[in-house]
Amino acid sequence: MKLLIPVASGLEQTTKRQLLTLGYDKAPADNGRLEVEGDWQDIARLNVFLRSSERVLIVLDKFRAVTFDELYEGVYNIPWENWLTVDSKILMDGKSVQSQLAAIKAAGGVAKKAIISRLADKIRTGRKTFSESGARSVVGVSVFKDEVTVTLDTSGDGLHKRGYRSLAYSAPLKETLAAGLIDSTFYNPDRDIEKPFADPFCGSGTLPIEAAMKALHIAPGLCRDFDFTKWACAPKGVLERAKEEAKDGERKDLSPVIFASDISKEGISIAQYHAKRAGVDKYIRFSVADARKFTSEKKYGILLSNPPYGERLSEETEVRALMRDFGKVFRALPDWNAYILTSLPDFERYFGKSADKKKKLFNANLVCGFYSYFGKPPKLEDEKIKRER
Ligand SMILES: C[S@@+](CC[C@H](N)C(=O)[O-])C[C@H]1O[C@@H](n2cnc3c(N)ncnc32)[C@H](O)[C@@H]1O
Repeated sequence: MKLLIPVASGLEQTTKRQLLTLGYDKAPADNGRLEVEGDWQDIARLNVFLRSSERVLIVLDKFRAVTFDELYEGVYNIPWENWLTVDSKILMDGKSVQSQLAAIKAAGGVAKKAIISRLADKIRTGRKTFSESGARSVVGVSVFKDEVTVTLDTSGDGLHKRGYRSLAYSAPLKETLAAGLIDSTFYNPDRDIEKPFADPFCGSGTLPIEAAMKALHIAPGLCRDFDFTKWACAPKGVLERAKEEAKDGERKDLSPVIFASDISKEGISIAQYHAKRAGVDKYIRFSVADARKFTSEKKYGILLSNPPYGERLSEETEVRALMRDFGKVFRALPDWNAYILTSLPDFERYFGKSADKKKKLFNANLVCGFYSYFGKPPKLEDEKIKRER
């Protein structure tokens, strides 16, 4: 099968590296999506192991359509009887970009009609409407420059829903974005488990929890289910096998050095609760603290945070001052690397230093900069940093 893996724009290369580690060396990446070939076991593995992808989709067909009739015909030609049953709960999803079939809701309606007609014809139900009381199947109909891609979503709930984050907190990072950010840094616990990782603006704990999961090789999808497991067309046992592989690979014997602090007592208590649910609480050193006082006796380390943005004008002055002070904190740790995700305009000016590297990312719908600052590298990292620069 051709599998499509959507990721947040800007995280394609990070996810490609994750795929390579999992043994998928051919994964062409393009504008927020990657493609791999695989079977049902691969679908289970990708859902369980991938840290920064949003979901895993099966590509059923691609064809050109500029009218609803062409769309109907293209969708009808897909052998839906191999994928769905008469009681499947069919939900339509999709988008249209630079295409004549611009009314995507209407296109979804036409596509669903085609699916139901095909099922009625092939399974000979004699009915044109179904109870839809069975397993959920989300069918994607995406149109880009008049080319229609029809997909089936094997994940169901987005892969950011690991299951550990249950309490509400203001402006938390999506888990998949947090994992992608971590993989974009030099935090490499497989090479140096003692190198500290710190988030002094940790809020509900997403970054330190994801860092601990990475360090301990805890698969992000270990504690959840996926839509494909309820489908008649999917073989039984593949998810169990992928989860066994994940369990076997866990390294809870390791001792990563992870600091999580926040000025909000409530934030820290929520973060601790989430860390416990993720099974990593005893690996993270939590404290209620002002990031302006952050320091460390460790020579090398990784600072990764998304500080408050100051979206409202009234807050922006405060956030600018905070970033000025935090810039001083970083400069007092000359061998550390710092990585900041923020939408604050002119961030580098307030931080007091031009970033060594920056890229554009989206946090929810907010355009952000991801600013990387490299401290003096330990010898081993010299080469990698030179390449990055
Ligand atoms: C955008 S939120 C971080 C969200 C977090 N990444 C998550 O996923 O939940 C920014 C955090 O900075 C904290 N904060 C604000 N001023 C601070 C300061 N001076 N020192 C430490 N934390 C601060 C806020 O309490 C808030 O939790």
